[in-house]
Amino acid sequence: MKKAPTSVKFHGTAEQEKQLREMIAGYKGEKSPMMPVLQEAQKIYGYLPVEVQKIIADELGVPLEEIYGIVTFYSQFLLNPKGEVPVSVCLGTACYVKGSGKLMEELENLLGIKNGGITEDMKFSLDATRCIGACGLAPVVMIGEDVYGRLEPNQLKGILEKY
Ligand code: FES
Repeated sequence: MKKAPTSVKFHGTAEQEKQLREMIAGYKGEKSPMMPVLQEAQKIYGYLPVEVQKIIADELGVPLEEIYGIVTFYSQFLLNPKGEVPVSVCLGTACYVKGSGKLMEELENLLGIKNGGITEDMKFSLDATRCIGACGLAPVVMIGEDVYGRLEPNQLKGILEKY
């Protein structure tokens, strides 16, 4: 499922940008700095918005499209910040077979965002996750710290209302 950026405004600080540029400088001359630079950048900002990708593109002298392609391909990279209540749908095999794809669709509808997105009020973010080791409860959704198992799409609205 493709990650989609939302229109949430970027709030990076000058201090974070300084940290980012210094970190990238430390990787200059390395053979393949891209993955470690992206991982470190995500540690600084918590996610990798296009504004941060642009700085990385400039500093490393690579096209922005290349960076965007990597960030959207690997599930470890986040295009959007996490919400106050992060919602993760397990798309591991056991959960997928039991219909977690339908749970993702229903959550996208209910929250009005796509997989990888965050609501405008920053309350909920939605992501897919790999197996979280609760396959016996498949299909599984994590909302905040809570794990919900054996879910049907029609239960999700009532559950979200609790948050
Ligand atoms: S596949 Fe979902 S918890 Fe294991």
